[in-house]
Amino acid sequence: MRPAISLLCVYFYALLSSGTSTGDDRRWLVSLVDLVELDYQDHCDQRAKATWEELLGSSEGLSLKLERDKAFGIFSRQQKSEVNAAYTAHSLSADDDVLRRRVKLLIQPGDTLLETKQWIRLVTFGDTALNRLRFATDYDCGYNTTCTLRELQNNIARQPDEEILRRMKLSWETHLPELQDYLENILPLLKNATKENQFNLIEEYWDSLVEYEGATLAARDIWQHVQPLYLKLHKYVTLRLRGADEVGKPLPVHLFRSLTGDDWSNLIENLLPKYPDIYQKVHANIQLKDIGGLNAYREANNLLKQLNLGEVPDDILAESAFNGTCPPTIVDWCQPNKLRFITCKDVSIQNYMDAHETATKIRFKLTTALHSNNTYILREAPRYSAIYEAVPGFVSLLSLDPHTLDRAGLYPLERFNYNRNHHRLVLQLIIALRDLPKLNYYLAADEWRIKVLMGQIHSSKVEDSWIEFRKNFSMIEPSSSDFLGDPYILFNKPYIGKFLGLIFKYQIYQSFAEELISDDLDLITHVFKSNQRLIDVMMQGFGISWPEMISDLLVKRENGLEYNALTDYFRLLDEYLDNQLDPASEHTIEDYNEPPPEVDLQENEISEEESSLPKSDVNEHKEVPKKTHDNTFDNIIEIDEDSNTKYETSTVGVLEIKNPVAAGDQSDDQHPKEASYNVYWWIGVAVALAVVVILVAIIARKRHNHRKQLEKQRRRQAA
Ligand SMILES: *[C@@H]1O[C@H](CO)[C@@H](O)[C@H](O)[C@H]1NC(C)=O
Ligand SMILES: *[C@@H]1O[C@H](CO)[C@@H](O)[C@H](O)[C@H]1NC(C)=O
Ligand SMILES: *[C@@H]1O[C@H](CO)[C@@H](O)[C@H](O)[C@H]1NC(C)=O
Ligand SMILES: *[C@@H]1O[C@H](CO)[C@@H](O)[C@H](O)[C@H]1NC(C)=O
Ligand SMILES: *[C@@H]1O[C@H](CO)[C@@H](O)[C@H](O)[C@H]1NC(C)=O
Repeated sequence: MRPAISLLCVYFYALLSSGTSTGDDRRWLVSLVDLVELDYQDHCDQRAKATWEELLGSSEGLSLKLERDKAFGIFSRQQKSEVNAAYTAHSLSADDDVLRRRVKLLIQPGDTLLETKQWIRLVTFGDTALNRLRFATDYDCGYNTTCTLRELQNNIARQPDEEILRRMKLSWETHLPELQDYLENILPLLKNATKENQFNLIEEYWDSLVEYEGATLAARDIWQHVQPLYLKLHKYVTLRLRGADEVGKPLPVHLFRSLTGDDWSNLIENLLPKYPDIYQKVHANIQLKDIGGLNAYREANNLLKQLNLGEVPDDILAESAFNGTCPPTIVDWCQPNKLRFITCKDVSIQNYMDAHETATKIRFKLTTALHSNNTYILREAPRYSAIYEAVPGFVSLLSLDPHTLDRAGLYPLERFNYNRNHHRLVLQLIIALRDLPKLNYYLAADEWRIKVLMGQIHSSKVEDSWIEFRKNFSMIEPSSSDFLGDPYILFNKPYIGKFLGLIFKYQIYQSFAEELISDDLDLITHVFKSNQRLIDVMMQGFGISWPEMISDLLVKRENGLEYNALTDYFRLLDEYLDNQLDPASEHTIEDYNEPPPEVDLQENEISEEESSLPKSDVNEHKEVPKKTHDNTFDNIIEIDEDSNTKYETSTVGVLEIKNPVAAGDQSDDQHPKEASYNVYWWIGVAVALAVVVILVAIIARKRHNHRKQLEKQRRRQAA
């Protein structure tokens, strides 16, 4: 019914409006697009309701979700033809960018263009499979006990016995959908979707969905440069788990204490270098302070506040659920501030980082929504934006920054400064175990699917081809079907956007880190002061394609993705791995300085007290490190970060900022100076805030009026 009503409304609107004929044309298109988007918004609202029911495990959840998802595809396909017809009737003027963008996104919706029967098959397959995996209660948790998915994940993370791990993974695999069904009926739909979207090659179709020209080619090229580090990490894992004789051979997935091998974080305790102090303390403190579930999101909110990116509002936290499984799932109702997520309450460093990522994604969505006037298609575009992945990823990197750890009461900065490079190495290892296997998995999943569909694998070998492919490409031995637990695979979605996002987040990190005059400075306060470029891209949302925002975000003339930022980030780890794999090699980290225990105790107390205070003022909160150990620093040979040399030409202004910190002992003297900066700074913030508030009010009012008008027409028409 809806589309028919929309169309009638449009005719009605067109009839009412007067003026030149080109003006009519445009108004006609605008009102059609507005109405289509309102209908989309209704669908979004209903699908979100159904999705939420399904995620919470209500008995009607799955059937409701199936119904909504099916209806969505049918609706989207119909709207496409309507908008397309209106659009081709006349051309838009050159400066009509926002409207052109909205039309483009509406007439190129991606997979929903599949024929109705095929679309229904796709969502039925995916929704059913995920529901079954999510709510099965008969996974094997070892020792003849059955358990839920969440318990399975927790047990796998801790289980040392290889045989039990294997059985656990097998019990999970029995819940996966049929491989044969997938290969015959689901994966080929990708070919049909490619055709429906008027592309010849799947690769081209996917590149168009990420809106990055030659995305897959670029990813292959980037991987060539990241692969050596990945292989070293893999060899190091093998060396530690299996001994020197096995190095260079593929390892079975379950050995990584993972179901798909896309994250090796659970191995961290087997892989720690000689001085794992920072891991042990952070791990222990996270447990002690119970930073899981809601508490992890409170911690993430603290960091977001310190970065001045806005927080996740309390009502979203209150309405979200912490009794589900990790990783978190966000559900968006496409209405002002109506977002929820479901996650687990388990405490771990991974979940702590995930919470930072998810909280930032929510901030991202809220900011986009506000500035897109809640235009549906500009916040929920069927596109895979690497920036939407990279900005939250960047914040999760900052969640392990020494200054963040200090403020969160997880690891005192003073202690960090004793053996900085040793600690940095451990932090890099934690992050590498999380990110490098993901990069590899993302590319493997895309490449393998393209290969199969291009007929590059003989049909008799397709069934086992995932095993062969992953062994060669990832040095991991999976089962033939373990990728079928992955929503991106089940719904034929490309991973390329996530791959590029992972690369890009290190470029964002580097762009900010390079602006710091010294490694010791607080990166968080620096981002706080120059966060406008982050906020700008969040405001844009899908308003323009993300590659157009790269150069502004990086404050550079280049506008492409590059691998160097990632490899630079992991330089210490790279050298450490070289050293471990070939002990004769030159690189060694400097000596370890035993930190005096009593200092440590004091620090711990101070930082713990601090963390319970409301953190309203970042600057107030910034701890000035008491540098009484300058001589120890002097002995340290800096291995990493060429940022020092880059700023040899720094201006007087920069040096002025640099001096107070370098002065160290007189740190107390600078407080007055800092305070006066602060006053100006806060006045600036207040003025900016006032402007934003006024703007928001104006926009909301306009939007409200506009909607009212449309609703009125609708009602009049219905009457
Ligand atoms: C699990 O149960 C089987 C029989 O069902 C038994 O043979 C086996 O010993 C049990 N294993 C453990 C660890 O209890
Ligand atoms: C793809 O489309 C063609 C033509 O419409 C159809 O014959 C074929 O069955 C479709 N493929 C799948 C997997 O449904
Ligand atoms: C999980 O939490 C949500 C709300 O927080 C609640 O509605 C739901 O019933 C809970 N589910 C279970 C299985 O406890
Ligand atoms: C939001 O609405 C305002 C006023 O109607 C308009 O100027 C602005 O371009 C709109 N923004 C977007 C992204 O549509
Ligand atoms: C393994 O991968 C390399 C490139 O990474 C490729 O050249 C080679 O053909 C692959 N071998 C097999 C058996 O797939």
